[in-house]
Amino acid sequence: MMPNMSLTTPFAVYVHWPFCLSKCPYCDFNSHVRHGGIDEARFLRGYETEIATTAALVPGRTVSSIFFGGGTPSLMQPATVQTILDCIAKHWTIAPDAEVTLEANPTSVEATRFRGYRSAGVNRVSLGVQSLDDAALKELGRLHSAQEALDAVAVARSIFDRYSFDLIYARPQQTTDAWERELTRAIAEAAEHLSLYQLTIEPNTPFFGLHKAGKLNIPGEDLARDLYDLTQTVCAKAGLPAYEISNHARQGAECRHNLIYWRGHDYAGIGPGAHGRLTIEGRRVATETDKRPEAWLLRVEESGAGLTVSEKLTPGETADEYLLMGLRLAEGIDPERYSALSGRALDPARISILRSEGAVETTADGRLRVTQSGFPVLDAVVADLAA
Ligand SMILES: C[S@@+](CC[C@H](N)C(=O)[O-])C[C@H]1O[C@@H](n2cnc3c(N)ncnc32)[C@H](O)[C@@H]1O
Ligand code: SF4
Repeated sequence: MMPNMSLTTPFAVYVHWPFCLSKCPYCDFNSHVRHGGIDEARFLRGYETEIATTAALVPGRTVSSIFFGGGTPSLMQPATVQTILDCIAKHWTIAPDAEVTLEANPTSVEATRFRGYRSAGVNRVSLGVQSLDDAALKELGRLHSAQEALDAVAVARSIFDRYSFDLIYARPQQTTDAWERELTRAIAEAAEHLSLYQLTIEPNTPFFGLHKAGKLNIPGEDLARDLYDLTQTVCAKAGLPAYEISNHARQGAECRHNLIYWRGHDYAGIGPGAHGRLTIEGRRVATETDKRPEAWLLRVEESGAGLTVSEKLTPGETADEYLLMGLRLAEGIDPERYSALSGRALDPARISILRSEGAVETTADGRLRVTQSGFPVLDAVVADLAA
C-alpha cells in the first residue's frame, strides 16, 4: 500500500504567466509579447480548468508552496492571482504556512500592485532587478532604471516579510572590481535571499547572434571563474552563503519552492509551457504543457488540460533527475535515496576519482555533495555520475 502522499511529501504548484511587456535579448524563457493585449478573464478560466484537471490526477495533496513565475506575473491583476489561489485551495489543501511567491519586474507600475498581491495571499516576491548599473540595464534591454528597481525593492520590503531579487553577472565588459561594488550595494538592499545568475548565452536569442558575430564581449572562462569565486566570498561574508549554485540565503530563508524541485519532490505545472512532476499510482510522471499561450488555451478549453507531454519516467530517469537537481544544492544528495530510486548504487569508483580531484565530498552523515571548486564544473560532475 502506498504511503499517504498528502502527509509524507511536500507538494508545490507552479503557475506560469507567459506574457512580458518586451522581450529581453538574453532571455529564452517561455515569454511572449502581445501588443494588442490579452483576454485575461479567458486565460483565468483556462488556469482554473487546468488546476481542476491536474488535481483530479493527484487528489488530496497538501500544497506547501505556490510560485507564480514567468514571463512577468506582475502583469496579472491581483484579482486574477486571488482567483487562482482560491481555485488551488478548492482542489487541494493549502498548508497554513505555505510559501506563496510571485515573480515581479521592478517597474513603478508593477510595484503599485504589490499590496493587492499581498491581500490575495502572496507572501513573498522575487524581483528581477538584474543590475544596479543603468548602462548594463540598457544593454540587457530592461525597461527599468537602477533607481526604479531600488524603489520597487523598497516597496516590496515595506509590504512583504520575505522578498528576494535576481542579479545577472558575468555581463559584457564586467570587471571583478565593478561586480564587487555592485554586489556589495545589492547585499545592503537584500534581506534574506538573493539569486545571482551568471549570464548564459542561450541559442535563439539576440544575444546569441551578437555573441557569434563577436559583438558581445562577455567574460572568458578565467574571468567568469573569478567573478563566481568573488560572488561566493562576498556573499558568505555577508551571511548569505550559497545553498544552491546560484541562490544565496540566510539560514532558514531558502526558497522552499525551489527546494521542492531540487530535492526531487512533486510539483504540478499549470499554464503555458509549465513543467510538472507528479507521482501517480507509484510512478513518477513528467508533464509539460503547450508553450504557445493561445494554443494552450484552446487545448485547455477543448480537453481540460494543455498537456503535450505526460510521460512515465523509468526508475533510472527518476534517479538521474534526483542526482541532477540535488547536486546543485550545497546539502547534496542522499546516495541511499538514489539507490532506492534507481535500483542500483552510484559507482564507487567514479565517486572516488571525483573525490580525489576535489570535485565532490561525502559529509559526516553520508550525503554526497559537490565542493566549492566542483561547482563551476557541475555539469561534468553530474554527467560522470549519472547512469
Ligand atoms: C523567468 S526570469 C523572469 C523574471 C522577470 N520576468 C524579470 O525579468 O524580472 C527569472 C530570472 O532568470 C534570469 N535569467 C533569465 N535569462 C537569463 C540568462 N540568459 N542568463 C542568466 N540569467 C538569466 C534573470 O535574472 C531573471 O530574473
Ligand atoms: S527576463 Fe523577464 S521580462 Fe525579460 S523577457 Fe525574460 S521573462 Fe520577460
